[in-house]
Amino acid sequence: MPPVVDLSALNARLTDAAPRDILACAMATWPNCALSFSGAEDVFLLHLASRINPDIKIFTLDTGRLHPQTYQFIEQVRETYDVRIDMLCPDAERLQRLVSDKGLFSFYRDGHEECCGIRKVEPMRRHLAGFDAWITGLRRDQSPSRRELEIFEPDARFAGASGPLIKINPLANVTSRQLWEQIRMLEVPYNPLHDQGFASIGCEPCTRPTGPNQHEREGRWWWEEATLKECGLHKK
Ligand code: ADX
Ligand code: SF4
Repeated sequence: MPPVVDLSALNARLTDAAPRDILACAMATWPNCALSFSGAEDVFLLHLASRINPDIKIFTLDTGRLHPQTYQFIEQVRETYDVRIDMLCPDAERLQRLVSDKGLFSFYRDGHEECCGIRKVEPMRRHLAGFDAWITGLRRDQSPSRRELEIFEPDARFAGASGPLIKINPLANVTSRQLWEQIRMLEVPYNPLHDQGFASIGCEPCTRPTGPNQHEREGRWWWEEATLKECGLHKK
């Protein structure tokens, strides 16, 4: 059984802690935890976490719609850190029904929720059901919907192996600028699309570069309102 932990006390104690210390505490407290890997934030966390425990369980969602550069980047990360990365795939029947009934770009017409539900949320739900906790690269300054983020919080979306699932956001307090300073200093590999103006990278049809004065989330699902820009993995 996972430990019963006072999350408020833990948040208060580690509120100003470095991501490395938050990770060390998280991995010691919930040994059955998984690290999600997608963006620059996650590779930075993977860099730190794999030094604490080289056998940390890592997964990524292979939505089938990622940029070719992202697939190559996943391989680069696997080789650089010599880690296994579990690739989560959508349920074939549900996906086949969606694209046969509605085509390959239905999200431009009726919103991203249905496609993200099949390609991201459901595979994630299935995978996380085997863990007590998971680690994300969420930051408060990423979007209006993330301003209230805690470092340790009960996951409002998914259940864990033995009931509630704990979500750990070691970068909650870290700004984009601080993250990139660390990535450059530690020479952490990053997706080459970042050098082509992509600030936040998701699936290819739903991501575009942003200009210097645009917020990073403006490059995601740009045809939808700012408050709707969550794919369902992090909805409250
Ligand atoms: S999203 O909800 O808009 O797609 P975002 O790209 O900001 O999320 O990523 C936030 C965090 O969600 C990442 O740091 C990671 O923890 C998790 N995440 C997002 N996409 C994936 C993915 N494809 N595979 C694994 N984790 C992901
Ligand atoms: Fe589908 Fe776009 Fe969501 Fe990817 S980001 S799962 S392509 S709607």
